[in-house]
Amino acid sequence: MRKPAILVFAGSIRSGAFSQQTADAYAAQLAGMECEVTRITLADYPLPIMDEDLEEEKGIPESALKLARLFDHHDALVVVTPEYNGSLPPLLKNAIDWVSRVSSDGDKPLAPYRDKLALVASSSNGIMGGYSALTHLRHILVRLGMQVLSEQMALGKAGSAFNDMGRLSGEREAGMLEKACRSLVEKATLLGRA
Ligand SMILES: Cc1cc2nc3c(=O)[nH]c(=O)nc-3n(C[C@H](O)[C@H](O)[C@H](O)COP(=O)(O)O)c2cc1C
Repeated sequence: MRKPAILVFAGSIRSGAFSQQTADAYAAQLAGMECEVTRITLADYPLPIMDEDLEEEKGIPESALKLARLFDHHDALVVVTPEYNGSLPPLLKNAIDWVSRVSSDGDKPLAPYRDKLALVASSSNGIMGGYSALTHLRHILVRLGMQVLSEQMALGKAGSAFNDMGRLSGEREAGMLEKACRSLVEKATLLGRA
């Protein structure tokens, strides 16, 4: 039986982004478990702001199709969001919205979200760790038909949360991340058997 395939990405492309560091920590944790991990950055998938006139005129942008293929191929997503004014940054929401417009790849039907598993996390230098954005992200992914796991992490004080190896230095946070990843791999493996 094949190992579950898990796609990990962050909602920021800022150099030194906390959400990228957090996504790296998830990818590193998952790499030691029984799964195949793909770590991407949205910087490699540039997209115009969602505009239905543009969609009508030019169709789905190549980057949205590429992302939709990736989402479709994987059993689960790990999405780490920053918090902008209590919600998702436009980069992440825009990518999610464009991918939601893709239902086929030529003759092949694509289901980038429906019934897939997701693990969500947020990070911020504030003490709340972007919890509000995390709640919004969960809502959107559930709305798109994903099974979002209850295990989640809002990583506060992100500027001092990582050690030199890029691992979470706090015992509690490292434990939460480990537990969440284990749960994701277990559920993805079970779903693969069904
Ligand atoms: C427009 C804007 C709004 C922001 N709003 C919040 C906020 O509501 N809560 C918060 O904790 N941080 C907020 N921040 C700070 C970001 O959390 C901070 O820039 C963070 O480093 C961005 O995530 P990243 O490191 O993954 O790029 C905001 C930043 C910007 C640019």
